[in-house]
Amino acid sequence: MTSSLLQNHQLRWPTDWADIFGREAPLIIEIGFGSGHFLVDLAQKRPSANVLGVEISLPALDKAQRKVRTLGLNNVRLLQSDARYLLQALCSPEAVAEVYINFPDPWPKAKQLHRRLINVDFLHLLATRMVPNGRLDVATDHADYALAITEALESTPYFQSRLPTTFVTEDTERLRTKYEQIGLDEGRTCHYYKFARVETAVPQSYPIPKEFPMPHAVLQSPLGLDAIEAEYGRFQYSYDDCHINFMELFRAKDDDSLFVETYIKEEPVAQRLGLVIRQREPGNYVISLHELGFPRPTRGVQLAIGQLAIWLVSLNDETKILHHNLLPEALSTNLSEVH
Ligand SMILES: C[S@@+](CC[C@H](N)C(=O)[O-])C[C@H]1O[C@@H](n2cnc3c(N)ncnc32)[C@H](O)[C@@H]1O
Repeated sequence: MTSSLLQNHQLRWPTDWADIFGREAPLIIEIGFGSGHFLVDLAQKRPSANVLGVEISLPALDKAQRKVRTLGLNNVRLLQSDARYLLQALCSPEAVAEVYINFPDPWPKAKQLHRRLINVDFLHLLATRMVPNGRLDVATDHADYALAITEALESTPYFQSRLPTTFVTEDTERLRTKYEQIGLDEGRTCHYYKFARVETAVPQSYPIPKEFPMPHAVLQSPLGLDAIEAEYGRFQYSYDDCHINFMELFRAKDDDSLFVETYIKEEPVAQRLGLVIRQREPGNYVISLHELGFPRPTRGVQLAIGQLAIWLVSLNDETKILHHNLLPEALSTNLSEVH
């Protein structure tokens, strides 16, 4: 039996799910499966479907993996990922047949509201990845989140209720989840939503992110590594919706390289990776992406390498970029520096 746990870095943008499951079958996704009971029950009840569980919690993934193994289920795969990333980067338009979201984290405090998964934007993204008439089931025991979900589902043009009402407060058909049981035991009312994607086309506003050839920039500079290291301080840049945070700089002993720990956020991708400034020979440097952690060479990485090159050039009049394979905007000096 192949492992049910998928390695994120091995998945293509977008992923061929039939290839991953070894067969063509409708793809069902459970987002935030927690204990994994509902997920394995779904896989058992629907042997002719490919069932994908996505979670951010490692202990939850571990527990679910053990359940899948014990039950010998071969139609389940598990992925550690944020649901938005899974949908936008790994799923092609109309790749998903059904989606279950059981008791999503309610983020009840005012300053946490933006963290809630379900809103009109998310529903639009979801609709772009779902087949026409594809089913979306959501449940929550949080009264305030229920209000927000009701409002989002009633205002989105891309989903409609399969029930005569927007929600029901009882559903004896479903397997109870852990958080559902906690909510009921504590006397809360659960809201169950059973929707379907509309049949009409959905505007494809969420492009699949792109990977570029491995980026590099070659520079000449009279500065030595010691001088570059001494000049370095943390800095941040923003360009469009891409935020780059140059963090710690490390230098390995007896090494001819500097390693700049960098965080790059560009919806729906967030990467913490290493950029390397390597001295190939005195006066000649190449800046590239370190392979540690299997980073994706995105547009944000191009921008980061370009900005690191510009920073080096700013240190010294004789420092120049000799050649590079970066996008033109990567070397723009108009990026806004954040202090
Ligand atoms: C309140 S628990 C509910 C667990 C389970 N569905 C249940 O009903 O018992 C919410 C789960 O969603 C996961 N989660 C939160 N945000 C997520 C995201 N953006 N993508 C994937 N999983 C997420 C959390 O790690 C957590 O396990």
